[in-house]
Amino acid sequence: MPAPADLLAPGRAGVERDGYLDLLGAGEDPTGSRPGQRLMASRVLPLIYERLWRPLGGRVLMGALGPGMAGERRIALEMLELGAGDAVLDVACGPGNFTRAFADAVGAGGVVVGLDASRTMLAQAVRERPQDGVAYVRASATDLPFRDGSFDAVCCFAALYLIEDPLLAVTEIVRVLAPGGRVALLSSVARGPLPAGASDAVVRPLTGVRIFGRDDLTRALADGGLVDVRRRVSGLAQFVSARRPGSNPGAP
Ligand SMILES: C[S@@+](CC[C@H](N)C(=O)[O-])C[C@H]1O[C@@H](n2cnc3c(N)ncnc32)[C@H](O)[C@@H]1O
Repeated sequence: MPAPADLLAPGRAGVERDGYLDLLGAGEDPTGSRPGQRLMASRVLPLIYERLWRPLGGRVLMGALGPGMAGERRIALEMLELGAGDAVLDVACGPGNFTRAFADAVGAGGVVVGLDASRTMLAQAVRERPQDGVAYVRASATDLPFRDGSFDAVCCFAALYLIEDPLLAVTEIVRVLAPGGRVALLSSVARGPLPAGASDAVVRPLTGVRIFGRDDLTRALADGGLVDVRRRVSGLAQFVSARRPGSNPGAP
């Protein structure tokens, strides 16, 4: 099992702060300036995010018949096909609401890294249930501080639509995925007669939330060389999974 520090790319180092490793400078804040983006870095939202905001947000995005939080966790675990001892990266982990489920799945021999740019979200993640093998890191999703091919599975749920350059984040996710590694994404998707660009032009300036076109994320993963690219649409959300070809020589 690699230690989280062993996964860092050469030359990357951070400062231990409030229980997480901070790789961003004091003035660096890549979370964005629009209202929905600023909320993620606020003091109050992390306190109510996991038990109130996120379940409600999921309902707004996916409707009353959507999977709910337990269902989303099940979908993530299915798509990531986690096994004992896996190394897992949870990009834009927020307060660790999925990170902890990944740690349970990979067991004591695995390593799980939750990465986020928000200090307050990470501080909340650290306050939640402590677990062996879990490390939290403050860094940007568009500049992941890890070696190429260092993770068996990478998740990014409910965040690409808030990230300023989401396709760069997808490129980074693909880069850190080991041969045979799996990726799971949850984000927005345009539905109905309006083209994605038209909805996005209204919604994003007001909220910071991007509306993806139907093929934007699947195409980005396929262009990055991933295979078995699958999409499942639920309301205004899409779950997307894919796999890097090959098998991990480090796998048991
Ligand atoms: C809505 S939360 C998602 C949390 C969790 N993944 C979930 O599904 O509930 C979005 C997270 O993305 C983070 N975020 C936004 N832009 C980011 C960036 N450029 N790099 C890293 N994290 C970012 C925010 O700080 C926030 O914690």
